[in-house]
Amino acid sequence: MSRLLSTARISCTAMIFAVASYGCVGDDQTDESRATVAELNSPDIRPAGHYGYGLDASPEEIAGWDIDIRPDGVGLPEGSGTAEGGEMLYENQCASCHGSFGEGVGRYPVLSGGEGSLTEARPEKTVGSFWPYASTLWDYIHRAMPYTEPESLNDDEVYAITAYVLYLNDLVDYDFELTRHNLTGIEMPNRDGFYVDDRPDVNNELCMQNCKELGSVRITSEPEAAESDSDPADKAVVVPTLAGETVYQQACALCHAAGLADAPVPGNNEDWSERLTLGRNVMLENVLSGKGAMPPQGGLARFSDADVAAAVDFMLSQSRN
Ligand code: HEC
Ligand code: HEC
Repeated sequence: MSRLLSTARISCTAMIFAVASYGCVGDDQTDESRATVAELNSPDIRPAGHYGYGLDASPEEIAGWDIDIRPDGVGLPEGSGTAEGGEMLYENQCASCHGSFGEGVGRYPVLSGGEGSLTEARPEKTVGSFWPYASTLWDYIHRAMPYTEPESLNDDEVYAITAYVLYLNDLVDYDFELTRHNLTGIEMPNRDGFYVDDRPDVNNELCMQNCKELGSVRITSEPEAAESDSDPADKAVVVPTLAGETVYQQACALCHAAGLADAPVPGNNEDWSERLTLGRNVMLENVLSGKGAMPPQGGLARFSDADVAAAVDFMLSQSRN
């Protein structure tokens, strides 16, 4: 037991160590300052973490991970950049995927335009049309772009490229200098388009009626339908019948609505009076097997006999009025 525990302890601290050192890339922690696993295991190097093992993350380690920028600007570093200054950076590092004007190359995301399209059938969600805060743009570019080299841009470059993408969306002028002090003042067109989900939680009572007996339900991949010795009603799979009108619209109206090739038109009693003497079942047989210019099943074999029957009944119900 104690052996197991100590193994777990080492792997946990090793993991935290790995995470912490990744988070510190770029800060001033040198190889010499990195503790060995054995040292990290010694209780006096730093207090043990919440669960009694691992280590509390140091402020520096947290700072390495804490790179998010809030809509109110908290998290933005010092620095600045103009759209003009961002143009070449964008052209060199972003345009190959997002297009020189933010129009998007191939299926890469479009970054500009689309204003006013959000309520259309095909909304075009871009930085300009969709994003509510400019801070998100700074944050996103800083942490994730360019796609192949995230976090490779310095802060001034991120300010400049952010300004340029805003410029591509007509939100700032070409010579506008973006800083941490004016970034939150940029009003994005869709800033009021989001709201906190105000729908109430639903706490309906569980429906516990008509439940299957406990233990009678199981998930299986066996082809049980092939076994015939049990009551088939137990296994019956109910295939819903399409409404007669639906089948009629899909398979029959083509000819019958317009009386194509003299097909009898539902509702036109003259067309039906003689046929009705055949009776519903004979007519149904004629439809299933085909009659005159009408192919079997009206030409659509994918409908079941029951679907066709429903369509016939629908047609007759129109005609008897
Ligand atoms: C190699 C292609 C490539 C390059 C180069 C590239 N991006 Fe991207 N970009 C992407 C892809 C792919 C996504 C979508 C990522 C996702 O959804 O996970 C994206 C997403 C974005 C988005 C979010 C779009 C949205 O509406 O969700 C922004 C903003 C952005 N990139 C800006 C930039 C900037 C600025 C640069 C240059 C510094 C850049 N990208 C370079 C491929 C690229
Ligand atoms: C390609 C055109 C066409 C399609 C599609 C078609 N019908 Fe017909 N239908 C006809 C024609 C033509 C007749 C008259 C046949 C005759 O009396 O020689 C007819 C006759 C009928 C009759 C009267 C049968 C009788 O015995 O007099 C019924 C009922 C009928 N169709 C139902 C349907 C239904 C239901 C569908 C769809 C599942 C369908 N039809 C699809 C052309 C079509």
